[in-house]
Amino acid sequence: MKKKIFFFLKIVVAFIVLILSASICSFWYVNKTFISFEDGYENRTDIPELTINGYTFLDRNSNSTLDVYEDDREAITDRVLDVLSQMTLQEKIHLLKGAGMASTIGMTKPGGIPGAVGAIVPTPRLGIPTVHLSDGPAGLRIEPSRENDDKTYYCTAFPIATLLASSWNETLVYEVGNAMGREAKAYGIDVILGPAANIHRHPLCGRNFEYFSEDPLLSGFMGASIVNGIQSNGIGTSVKHFVANNQETNRVLNDVIVSDRAMHEIYLKGFEHIVKRSQPWTIMSSYNKINGVYTSESEWLLTNILRNEWGFKGLVMTDWFGGKNSSSQISAGNDLLEPGTNRQWKALTKAVKNGELSMDAIDRAAKRILTLIFKTKKMQNYRFNNTPDLKKHAGITRNSAAEGMVLLKNENSLPFTNEKNIALLGITSYEFIAGGTGSGDVNEAYTISLEEGFLNAGFKINKTAKKIVESHQKVNSDGFVKPQGLDAIFSPFSPPEIIYTTDQINNIVATSDIGVLTIGRNSGEGGDRSEKDDFLLTKTEQEMIVKFTDAFHKKNKKVIVVLNIGGVIETATWKHLPDAILLAWQGGQEGGNSVVDILSGRINPSGKLPMTFPVKLSDHESHKNFPKNPKMITLEGLVKNLIFPPSETPKADKVKDEDYTFYHEDVFVGYRHFDSKNLEVSFPFGFGLSYTNFEYSPMKLKIKNDTINISLNIKNIGIFPGKEVVQFYTEKVNSTIKRPTQELKSFAKTKLLENNESINISVKIPIKELSYWNETINDWSLEKGVYKIKIGESSRSIRQVLEVNL
Ligand code: BGC
Repeated sequence: MKKKIFFFLKIVVAFIVLILSASICSFWYVNKTFISFEDGYENRTDIPELTINGYTFLDRNSNSTLDVYEDDREAITDRVLDVLSQMTLQEKIHLLKGAGMASTIGMTKPGGIPGAVGAIVPTPRLGIPTVHLSDGPAGLRIEPSRENDDKTYYCTAFPIATLLASSWNETLVYEVGNAMGREAKAYGIDVILGPAANIHRHPLCGRNFEYFSEDPLLSGFMGASIVNGIQSNGIGTSVKHFVANNQETNRVLNDVIVSDRAMHEIYLKGFEHIVKRSQPWTIMSSYNKINGVYTSESEWLLTNILRNEWGFKGLVMTDWFGGKNSSSQISAGNDLLEPGTNRQWKALTKAVKNGELSMDAIDRAAKRILTLIFKTKKMQNYRFNNTPDLKKHAGITRNSAAEGMVLLKNENSLPFTNEKNIALLGITSYEFIAGGTGSGDVNEAYTISLEEGFLNAGFKINKTAKKIVESHQKVNSDGFVKPQGLDAIFSPFSPPEIIYTTDQINNIVATSDIGVLTIGRNSGEGGDRSEKDDFLLTKTEQEMIVKFTDAFHKKNKKVIVVLNIGGVIETATWKHLPDAILLAWQGGQEGGNSVVDILSGRINPSGKLPMTFPVKLSDHESHKNFPKNPKMITLEGLVKNLIFPPSETPKADKVKDEDYTFYHEDVFVGYRHFDSKNLEVSFPFGFGLSYTNFEYSPMKLKIKNDTINISLNIKNIGIFPGKEVVQFYTEKVNSTIKRPTQELKSFAKTKLLENNESINISVKIPIKELSYWNETINDWSLEKGVYKIKIGESSRSIRQVLEVNL
């Protein structure tokens, strides 16, 4: 017996030892491959200062002389050439990949920034510093607290990009970018990984909230404004995800099958505007393939189009762990591999040795990376103080959020007049959503809920409704635990909705003046949305809207629906029920205040839709080719894919919409499709109501030097001060090719106009922007003949049309 027990114990011990050694080996492997493999390349903080001939400089390579690259007075191009000439081949290769994942997961080295998701590595021998990269499009994402440090490092959660685009206000978006840039500068971040400028090809892409619009011109103009705002601080941007990254499902393997024409007119066009209007310091290539080639390995995209055709001067970095073949990436013009792995380092070294990767390609990439480093504050020895003006930025986010909210319906209900007791309905009214999840999330200090927004503005909140929420939260406490840390990245928080009884509804109606019912949606990186219970309202939400509107209306009281969502939802079947609908989007940390600013009339709504709200999802032409069974990436899945990169699915097993996606709708994306087919929509592209009305004077049109110049006066003829967004569309009459009926070619937003005040607005449309991509000649072609120039308050409400012969 004893022998048996002894034998059994031996087996158990052997098993434990085996498991322990396997865990230690795996940890060691993961650490040395993905997390921390930069031994011998520490950021130097001990660089001596020297003064020669009255000029004081950092003697970065400690040779006691003033090298060109150490001299701030020299041009960056010369400094870069000088330092490049002093670098060894190993140092150049080392520069082409990031420093790994250590700081992302909080394992920061001295001088690091916890939560910064990537870095450009230092070159200590030459005193070249580390450069820090951090997400993202709605504000910085760094760790809000640090070990052994009482200070907090919160960042401002600005509105999501879709909301910013709904403002159609380039100046305002510039201001938001400027505030983001100031925050980055204060926290020592050199490059913000944003804005994200992919097209809303289909309403259910899980990351649409990070993107601007279904229209490339609006996306491009908004993106450029943010870039200009951020970069005005000497902080770089990384415009992402280049390009056609329009679904999250299987995003790292998905192959987009798309025509050259759709690429040029729709998917590339927005990026082209951004590059030409703002010269971002960097572009981030996307995960997906286009017609069989990873974007990060495509010379056609990264060199021919981006650089040769558009004149992009910055560097291209990969999306995190994106693409397959490091050597092909560098050769194609993808200069920097982020966040960098030891595998890539080895692969590049090997590729140089066996001649697969040329010295020219290495020098070119290293030169672009060094140029960026020399532009950063780190190279200027700027001392950041970790004290951004969060209060000022809260004011900026509050006003910008209000400006991008879209009033979809208003039947004599808004703004509030003498409502004293407000019944807040639906769980989202109390758990307001600031933004989406994933890398587009921000670690903000607080989020103002709708409840707090009303209380801050001096309104009374109905206690009956509030008590029901409190007991619902108590009973369902598990559902109210917010995912934390890495888990929060891939798990959108969606607390259970309240199911109100008839008695509860009647009590609420009896004790309040008005109902404000919020519908919430949260999505994010790593998963697309589904039609059921997401695009479509859930059964509980439908019943809430039906029962509350019915009960309030019976007592002659009104119900306002607030949509606290990050992407389009179905509205056609229920929009007739409430008295008003405010599309609040996800307005950042001050969202609740911003909504109340609109409802109370402190701010007159002036947002307009940057996309169409369709009647049905299947009305979208892209719906035939979009994943119908979305799967969310998990943290475990992500780690597994990292260690064992997924291999290509054999051709015969490839699944449509996952392994490959046809873009059969071609250029007919969004309103281009709906308007060409004259389909009924729930709310059209460009639509949004105001508390006032505007008069448009007849337009004046002049063609001069290949540009169409249009001007008109806009007058506020209502009582409320307000702003108007004027949209300019063009249509080719009797086109000989299949092309959208109309396309947005310019827009303008007025300043705040007082009652009876008018303003002249003028826009310029370069005639070449009316061209289409001609696949037979592989270039843009301008059809000769008659074009309509239309001025609209939305794509479906055209106020004036003039014809020109081009
Ligand atoms: C996202 C990027 C992001 C990067 C770093 C990737 O998964 O696609 O948008 O910038 O992670 O967080």
